[in-house]
Amino acid sequence: MKVTKTSKSKINKIDFSKLPFGTVFSDHMLVCNYKDCQWNESEILPYGPIPMPPGAQVLHYGQSVFEGMKAFKNKSNEILLFRKEENFKRLNQSAERLSIPVIEEDVFMDGLDELLKIDSEWCKADEGYSLYIRPFIFASGECVKASASEEYTFIIITSPTTKYYAGEMNVVVEEHYTRAPQGGVGYAKAAGNYAASFFPTKQANAKGFQQLIWTDAKEHKYIEESGTMNIWFRIGDILVTPPLSDSILGGITRDSIVTLAKDNGIKVEQRRILITEVIEAFNKGRLKEAFGTGTAVTVNPINTITFRDERMVIEQQDDSFALKLKQQLQGIQKGSIVDVYDWTSKLKA
Ligand SMILES: Cc1ncc(COP(=O)(O)O)c(C=O)c1O
Repeated sequence: MKVTKTSKSKINKIDFSKLPFGTVFSDHMLVCNYKDCQWNESEILPYGPIPMPPGAQVLHYGQSVFEGMKAFKNKSNEILLFRKEENFKRLNQSAERLSIPVIEEDVFMDGLDELLKIDSEWCKADEGYSLYIRPFIFASGECVKASASEEYTFIIITSPTTKYYAGEMNVVVEEHYTRAPQGGVGYAKAAGNYAASFFPTKQANAKGFQQLIWTDAKEHKYIEESGTMNIWFRIGDILVTPPLSDSILGGITRDSIVTLAKDNGIKVEQRRILITEVIEAFNKGRLKEAFGTGTAVTVNPINTITFRDERMVIEQQDDSFALKLKQQLQGIQKGSIVDVYDWTSKLKA
C-alpha cells in the first residue's frame, strides 16, 4: 500500500468541542481503483478533492454504495473498531445489488487499519467522542450509457464526531412517500435511497418533525424504519421491531440490540407491526417506549409519534429499556464494559 502523508495536519485547527456531524474530516483517505476487472493497489493520501470527469457514471446513474461505522478510543488510548466484519459484509451485499464488484476483505481491512493508525489522533478518548468511518464505492467509469460501469473507486474517509441527534425526537408516520419498495434496494446502503428520502423528510421537517416513520410501499399500513434508523417499540415489556426484509436496512446496531435485549431477559419480537397496533397500544397505556437504532445515534428515544391528526406523547420511563441497552452498547463500544460478544476489535499497533 502506497502511503503519502500530509505535510500539514489540520488537527490543531479543529475545535473538538464543536463538531457538527459529518462536516470535519481527518487528514487522510484510502483510495483504491477498480479497472480491467480487478481492484488495484490501495493508496493512502492526504484528504482532498478527487479527479472526477463530468461523464463519471455515478453522477448520472447513482451507482454508489456506502457504509457507516465507528471506532472508539478506550481509556488506554487503544482504538476499538465495532463489528467491522459486519460493515464489510454489508458493503459487499450492497455492492452486489448495485452491480458493483465486491471488495476483497484484505483491501477493506488492511486499508482501514492503516488509515486509522495514521489518523489515530482524530479519534478522541473523551466521553461521547468517536471516529465515524465512511467507506464508499462509486462508478468512476467515464461513460453516459445507462449501464453498469467498468471502473469503480473505493474510498474510506473518517470524521471525528460527538453525539448526534441531540434534543427531542418527534416523528410523523409517512403514508404517501416510500423509502423502499419490495424488490427494490432498501436493504442496501445505496446512495439513491437517501437522495429519494430527502424530499419527504424536508416536508416533515417543515411541519416541525425531526424524522419520518416509513411505512410499507404497498399499503402504508406496516411500520418499516424511522429516518435512517431501525425502529423499536416497547409494548408492555416486550420489544418489537419489524423483521428484516428487502425494504429494510439490516442495521448492525439493531442486531446488537436484539442480542443485548435477549441477554437482559427482555423478550424481543421481530415481526410486522401495523400502525394501528401502535395506536391501540398507546391508547391502552401499553406503549411504554419507542426508539430508533443506528450507528450515528446508537439508541435514540422517540418522544412523540404523530399519525394523521393524532399525536402520541411517549413519557420517559424510569426503567427505560432504551437507556439501559444504550448504556450497555456504548460501554462495550468504548471498552468500559467487557465485550463477551467479540464485537470489538483492537487496532493492532
Ligand atoms: C436506512 C437505515 N436504516 C437503519 C440504519 C442503521 O444501521 P446501522 O445500525 O448499521 O448503523 C441505517 C444506517 O445507519 C440506515 O441508513
